[in-house]
Amino acid sequence: MTIRWYPGHMGKAQEQMAESIRKIDVIIEVLDARLPASSSNHLLEEMRRNKPCIKLLNKNDLADPAVTKAWVRHFEAVSGVRALPMSAKQHAETKQLIKLCRLLAPNRGRPGFPVRAMVFGIPNVGKSTLINTLAGKSMAKVGDKPAITICAQQIDLRNGIVLFDTPGLLWPNMDDQVGAYRLATSGAIGASALDYTNVGLFAAEYMMQRYPELLKNRYKLTELPDSPTALIEAIGRCLGCLASGGVVDLHRAAEAFLRELRAGKLGRVSLEEPQQDTPEATESQPD
Ligand code: G4P
Repeated sequence: MTIRWYPGHMGKAQEQMAESIRKIDVIIEVLDARLPASSSNHLLEEMRRNKPCIKLLNKNDLADPAVTKAWVRHFEAVSGVRALPMSAKQHAETKQLIKLCRLLAPNRGRPGFPVRAMVFGIPNVGKSTLINTLAGKSMAKVGDKPAITICAQQIDLRNGIVLFDTPGLLWPNMDDQVGAYRLATSGAIGASALDYTNVGLFAAEYMMQRYPELLKNRYKLTELPDSPTALIEAIGRCLGCLASGGVVDLHRAAEAFLRELRAGKLGRVSLEEPQQDTPEATESQPD
């Protein structure tokens, strides 16, 4: 089944974005650490040109730490790009982001010359969570005096950083169907665009290949079943997703499996790894 999501009417928004990027110092691109490529938008890479960029690998609490390290190496092989794994829900972790913003814009960050940063990202990667955490932290610092200024377009964090609103939205690349299935597995695609059974089977097959031990532990399996469908059935039996007559309800079982996977109940899982041979990676390899 082909996953379709959002129409391609982004021309105007893209122009505005490209224009806004010219006026800022640092791009903060929020990605899902479990699937940094599939949750990115290639247009931003084109619009970025030489602007310093932080690839914020959010939801790091859910991703496989070893794979995230590989992603950091992959992204940082490109000039002007820094990668930062973090959880936007954690106040303490946002300190690193502030530091990096200052580092990437060394001529700014003083009174009257704040670092102008802009947060980009496809829906559901955690942009609002990040902005709320950053804004909340500033507020806590100065007690009852409102520490953030929310104008039409910007949030002054009062720590030398001003966050600018993204003028428009970025969508993932839905032409890449494997990427679309990874996004669906992560929960980034609205339920209305999904067939849970298909996405559950995709996720089951991936997990059987990449994280068999996590499946065995979670669902008390001594051996893995020999097909994704048989695995979803076994999970359905384990989680009590039964229809009348004691038959496993495959749709419910797939949905329950995806819910568990997304919530990190099986453990920390990454849904994709950097390709060694992408032009981005090879271009910047040391001689
Ligand atoms: P967006 O603005 O980019 O669309 O994303 P948003 O902040 O709304 O976050 C989307 C979902 O991701 C929310 O979950 C949010 O709680 C979750 N999230 C954001 N950052 C992190 C993180 O670092 N770790 C984890 N584990 N989750 C994160 P939700 O279920 O849609 O909402 P809620 O019930 O949590 O409020």
